[in-house]
This record gives sequence, structure tokens and C-alpha cells, in this order.
Amino acid sequence: MLELDFMGWREMDVAVAGGGEVDAMLYSARLVYSRWQVQCKIGQITMAAVAKEVGMQKVTLGTVILLVSTGPVTDAAQTYRKQIISTTNLHIVFIDGAALERVIKDNATLIDILRQQAQSAIIEKPTPQGLRLPTPSDDSSGGATPAAGGAGPAKAKRSEKIEPTLFAPTYTTTQGQMFCGDSLEILPSLIQQGIRAKLIMTSPPFALVKKKEYGNEDADAYVRWFEPFISLFKQVLEPDGSLVIDIGGAWIKGIPAKSIYQYKLLVTLCESGFYLAQEFYHYNPAKLPTPAEWVTIRRLRVKDAVNNVFWLTLDPFADADNRRVLTEYSDSMKALLRNGYKAKMRPSGHDISTEFQRDNGGAIPPNLLQISNTESNSIYLRRCREEEVKPHPARFPSSLPDFFIRFLTRPGDLVLDPLAGSNTTGAAAERLGRRWLAIEQNETYVEGSRFRFEPESERPKTSYIISAQSNIIPSAMPLFASEREQ
Ligand SMILES: C[S@@+](CC[C@H](N)C(=O)[O-])C[C@H]1O[C@@H](n2cnc3c(N)ncnc32)[C@H](O)[C@@H]1O
Repeated sequence: MLELDFMGWREMDVAVAGGGEVDAMLYSARLVYSRWQVQCKIGQITMAAVAKEVGMQKVTLGTVILLVSTGPVTDAAQTYRKQIISTTNLHIVFIDGAALERVIKDNATLIDILRQQAQSAIIEKPTPQGLRLPTPSDDSSGGATPAAGGAGPAKAKRSEKIEPTLFAPTYTTTQGQMFCGDSLEILPSLIQQGIRAKLIMTSPPFALVKKKEYGNEDADAYVRWFEPFISLFKQVLEPDGSLVIDIGGAWIKGIPAKSIYQYKLLVTLCESGFYLAQEFYHYNPAKLPTPAEWVTIRRLRVKDAVNNVFWLTLDPFADADNRRVLTEYSDSMKALLRNGYKAKMRPSGHDISTEFQRDNGGAIPPNLLQISNTESNSIYLRRCREEEVKPHPARFPSSLPDFFIRFLTRPGDLVLDPLAGSNTTGAAAERLGRRWLAIEQNETYVEGSRFRFEPESERPKTSYIISAQSNIIPSAMPLFASEREQ
């Protein structure tokens, strides 16, 4: 299948493996010569295991190290792999436990796994000065995406050019582009064009598992569904960028117990090289008390009113500044600032110094974001009703992307929502002066999302009372005048 030829099993010969052991040696001489050093393991792929293979490569003269394991890859092993790939001619491929299970079920997925890692090497290998990945402007036939950004260095002479498939956006605004299609097809093209996002702000379709009876097994199925996105997200993110995932909980059918699918996803993301920068909770006080059986009828559980919001980064010191999302001071803090505070020791032993008297322009928000999702009078829904377009049934409130866009990006940065639904993210980015790209596979949702960008003057007049802020509680409102654009 891979068009590799076999050299030998379990090589322990000093001449071949320097006294170490390699499970298999393979080679290909189809287009260019490559030599594959294959090692299979049980359990985790650790940094030490990778380092041992890299050491042996000096003797085997392998050009590719393939490490296959039943377990996950540790963060240290991922970091080490990246370092080796970016500083040497070697390529290192990991097939971890989850990927191995996919290969066992369908061995054709091996090609996808290798292809994905080859794609990631395109950005992991440093580009020598004067060379660059092709951008849409290289293609004289047009179809460029303006969101790709900067012109880049002078055009390089290349004997062979990688031609990305260009997808045409369904609509374009001053700041962004909406694509209708499968993210798993469109993202590789964007990556190949050199497009990088500062923030991926998204909410995956968790209803996918809701329909099923899900215990742990379906949590695993959910993670398997999500897995192909992980490698693409890593490639499309700027090194100091962020991935923010809003994901709701789900109940196991028939019993008062919850699925842990979102936590399994979080573990998988962190084992794939992401850091959990911080977890947030999106609290919607207007949530209905469901499941009725457990909450209102048998009274066994309380109202479930939070969604998990995971903020993940590739670099723990990724760009972020909480001064961009300050909230209004509480009344007591305002009084304190007005009247002053006598510095003293608290009963807890904390020294409350005069530092607390300084007006920093607002309070640092907590990781509990209280936002009601009651947008029944929003322009989007009104226009969907008027034009008889089915509105998206699971939108997040615009204050959610608004908060993270301000917190984690600067004006002009690129924000991406690859599972965009009604494009709440794109509309928030547009208002905040950020460039945006959005991808949604459902045509009706894409059509409806256009209403979010209609100029006020072109909207038909109606008697509805519009309150753009109706879904935001005052304490979550930004304080910076320049940011108050909603
Ligand atoms: C929870 S919704 C997002 C809602 C969105 N945040 C909003 O406010 O409107 C998830 C969306 O992902 C879309 N989706 C699922 N798989 C996709 C894929 N492979 N490519 C593009 N869109 C996809 C679904 O059609 C669905 O509309």
C-alpha cells in the first residue's frame, strides 16, 4: 500500500543497528530513495523512546523514523519530534494508540495518517530565506483569498510547485470570507496556501452524540470523529495562537449520569501537543431545567446551566492580555476606589495592601462567563423569519466569541471558525476589526449567516424592537470605548 520494500525484521546487527534493535527496516526507491526505520512499542511513546531511535538512525542511515504504539504520545516526545524535524533532514512519524485502532479497523487510514503528518512537516521544516510556500497570488488564474495576508518575500524559483486546491468563498465581506463545504477538505488547502490563524474559535456539533446512547464507548467515537481536525488545527494556528472550543455536556441515556466525552476530547487534545491554557465555563442562567425526568420530576439533579469552554494553546505563553477584556468594577470596589482603603491584614492572613486601591480601568473577569443565550429578537432570527430561511438551532451567543477575540487577538489578526454554523464568530470578528474565515458544510446555515452582515440601510424596516445587548449581562460588558462596538 505504501510502496515500501522490505529490508529486514528485528535488526540487532551491530552493523545495521549499532547494537540496538530496530523492529523493521524498509525502503522505497520509487521516486526518491528513502529508508524507513520502524519501531513498535506497547504503551506511551516517550521522549526517551524517540531519542533512542534518533540515535540509532546515525547507524541505520534511515531518513524516516516510524514509531508505532498502543499508547499516547507524551508532550515531551511531541516537542522533541518537532525539534528534530525542524533542525535535521529526518522525518519522524508517530502512529499512537488511537491512530493504530483506526488502522486496525481500516488499514487505508494509514495513508491519511501519514499524509497528515507529511502536511504538518511542510510547516515544521523551516523555510530557508527567499523560499516560501505558494500563496494564491502565485496563481495567475485567480481565485485568491485576500484573507491570506501579506505579500511575503520575492517570488522564488522552484522547479516543482505544490498547487493547493482553491475553494471559492460563498460570500466575502470587508474583513472575511465564508466557505460552504467540509472543513476537512478546505482546511488543508488553506494551510497549503500559507494561511495561519491567530484564533480558532469554534463550537463543534455535540448534538452528534446526543442522539445516541452514549457511555464511554460513544465518548471514544466522538474523539475519533474529532481527531482529523486536531492535526489540521495545529497546522493552521500561528505558533502563539489559541484554540477555543465551546462544548456542552451530555447525559447518558436512561440514567442520571453524564457522559465525559468532552473531557476525553480535552485529554486527547493535550496529548496531541496542546496546552490547556485555561478552562472557562459559559453560564447561561436562562437554560431550561433538563432532563426533566431527573431535574423537575424526580428532583435527583439540579439545573445544568454551564458549557465547558476549553482554551488551548501550542505555546503556554501564547498571546493574551486580560486588559482587553476588563469588566465594570463592582459597586463595593467603586466605593473603595472613591473612598480609599486602610491597608490591613485580613483574618485569612492576606495582606490587603494599598495596591488594591489603584484604578486599573476595570475588574479582571473570572473564568465564569455569564451570558444568556436569549436572542429571540436578534436581527439574524428576524431576517431568517422574513426570508423563510431555517435558522441555525445551536448558535452560541455573540458575546462568547466577542470575549475571546478581544482577549486573544489584536485588530487585523485572523480568526477562524471551521464549524461555523450561522457564523456568529465571523460577525463578531468583523465588528471588532479582525479578519476572519469561516467554514460550514450546511448550505442553509451559510445562506442564513449572510443576514449577519447586511448593512443597516439595506435591511427591510420592521416593527421589532432590536436590542443588540440583550444577551449580555452588564458585568460582562467591555469597558474600553474602542472595543465597545457591538
Ligand atoms: C454547534 S454548530 C456551530 C454553531 C455556531 N457556533 C453558531 O453560533 O452558529 C456546529 C456546526 O458544525 C458544522 N459541521 C460539522 N462538521 C463539519 C465539517 N466537517 N465541515 C464544516 N462544518 C461542519 C455543522 O453543520 C454545524 O452547523
